[in-house]
Amino acid sequence: MQFKHFLQFNDFCREEYEYLFERTRWIKQEFKQYRQYWPLSDRTLAMIFDKNSTRTRLSFEAGMHQLGGAAIYLSTRDTQLGRGEPVEDAARVISRMVDLIMIRTYEHDIIKRFAENSRVPIINGLTDEYHPCQIMSDIFTYIEYRGSIEGRTVAWIGDSNNMCNTWLQAAEIFNFKVNVSTPPGYDINPERIGLSGTTHYEKFANPHKAVIGADLVTTDVWTSMGFESEAEQRKNDFAEFCVDEEMMSLAKNNALFMHCLPAHRGEEVSAEVLDGPQSVVWDEAENRLHTQKALMEYLLLGKLDAGS
Ligand code: CP
Ligand code: NVA
Repeated sequence: MQFKHFLQFNDFCREEYEYLFERTRWIKQEFKQYRQYWPLSDRTLAMIFDKNSTRTRLSFEAGMHQLGGAAIYLSTRDTQLGRGEPVEDAARVISRMVDLIMIRTYEHDIIKRFAENSRVPIINGLTDEYHPCQIMSDIFTYIEYRGSIEGRTVAWIGDSNNMCNTWLQAAEIFNFKVNVSTPPGYDINPERIGLSGTTHYEKFANPHKAVIGADLVTTDVWTSMGFESEAEQRKNDFAEFCVDEEMMSLAKNNALFMHCLPAHRGEEVSAEVLDGPQSVVWDEAENRLHTQKALMEYLLLGKLDAGS
């Protein structure tokens, strides 16, 4: 049987995202009208978490219920995965019992090995390298507010982490530009994330310069999950990389601010920006639900006709 995985943003092409966003608009509208839509009524999603989560767990679990299916939460803390059962064996077993699997884990290699041994589609719910579901929601949110993101400039301020890497992949697919500003020693690694060239990003040592003229300013925590031992060092290294009102004032007047959350007010973003008029972080979080419902529908049922 032919099926697709969603392990990184460039697993899908532009046309597939256009389709997913069209489905998302319809699914969101039906949900807001309290209209029942149960296309996955006999399907089961397993969600494997190796790291903490609020949004990802809730949006997948609620999303699957709202599509008529069931979702099962598995944590490595209390499954055999946490006691050393090989990823390959777990993939073979779990994928015989459910229709779809979402995984949040550490190295991307883990999810790749899982996918290679799975009989069903695998969704990346965040790895050290990528967070494709979040960027799908972010771009959908940008389009809701401002229309096409093609030709726009996104300023990424802070760590070259999973969010940054995924923005860089998305820029090639949607044809926009990312101005990246990271502190010394936290540079991006374009080869590692498979970028095809240098035309869709530009590096800036000074974060203020990266933001000039941007349509969207975005950042993330200085210390991602799995890097906690570096937290104190990172507080020093990232001290100049707080998105505050002064920095935002350099972007376009109608620039949006995004953050995948959870956020640390006073570190990577000031409270005034996060809670201010340019911030769309709550819509960004909500759209995880709607975009992922379209994603699950697509992975399990393929392309459907509009309005069905
Ligand atoms: N943004 C995001 O993925 O949030 P959680 O860690 O709460 O899932
Ligand atoms: N970069 C963050 C994102 C959390 C949703 C992390 O990996 O911890």
